[in-house]
Amino acid sequence: MSAKLKIIDFVQKEFSNFNKGAHTLDHIRRVYSLSRLIGEGLPISTRVLQAAALLHDVGRLKESETGVSHSILSGEMSKPLLQELGYSTTEIDRIIDAIRTHRFSEGIEPTSLEGKILSDADKLDAMGAVGIYRAIAQAESKGKGMVGFLKHADEKLLKLKDLMYTAKGKHLARERHNILQRFVDQLRDEVAEYVL
Ligand code: ADP
Ligand code: NI
Repeated sequence: MSAKLKIIDFVQKEFSNFNKGAHTLDHIRRVYSLSRLIGEGLPISTRVLQAAALLHDVGRLKESETGVSHSILSGEMSKPLLQELGYSTTEIDRIIDAIRTHRFSEGIEPTSLEGKILSDADKLDAMGAVGIYRAIAQAESKGKGMVGFLKHADEKLLKLKDLMYTAKGKHLARERHNILQRFVDQLRDEVAEYVL
């Protein structure tokens, strides 16, 4: 089994116990693909970026149990596997660093290009049609409903387009932001028409 497949296997096992709301294995797949797309032609380490994208959310379940951020836990949990798979100390440090700086709710600035790409890819997956789908799924899984979704859209999702680092990320964010904005506006209009 290749190193990549072993990482995917590890991620799949972690997610089998935690695959709900916005945090699902298909999110990891999309972040991986988006990272690849954004990273194309840029001077990056593909090994670092691929591993960081696949592993960035593995600490989600532990976060819900311990309250420690998955941006820290995902790196800690991944280290032994990365060592076993022959990643160098420098590569492991860079992977852990990219994971540590990816969360939009923590606002820690990524310093490496791989970190910036991961941050952009993760944010793009919270925007557009897929972002709407995830935010509604998350709001429903927490019992927050439509009001919760709209609040989250205002407070977070509609601000993401201004938090992109890479040129490709900015480009992809434009269309996704417009879809999000139109959906939120339309939802508010339609809901406002109801009278009991
Ligand atoms: P991060 O781990 O980068 O800080 P979050 O956990 O805040 O990101 O968000 C990850 C996903 O969960 C996104 O798709 C986001 O829209 C969704 N989400 C997070 N909080 C809420 C919320 N309160 N209501 C609806 N969706 C949410
Ligand atoms: Ni995350």
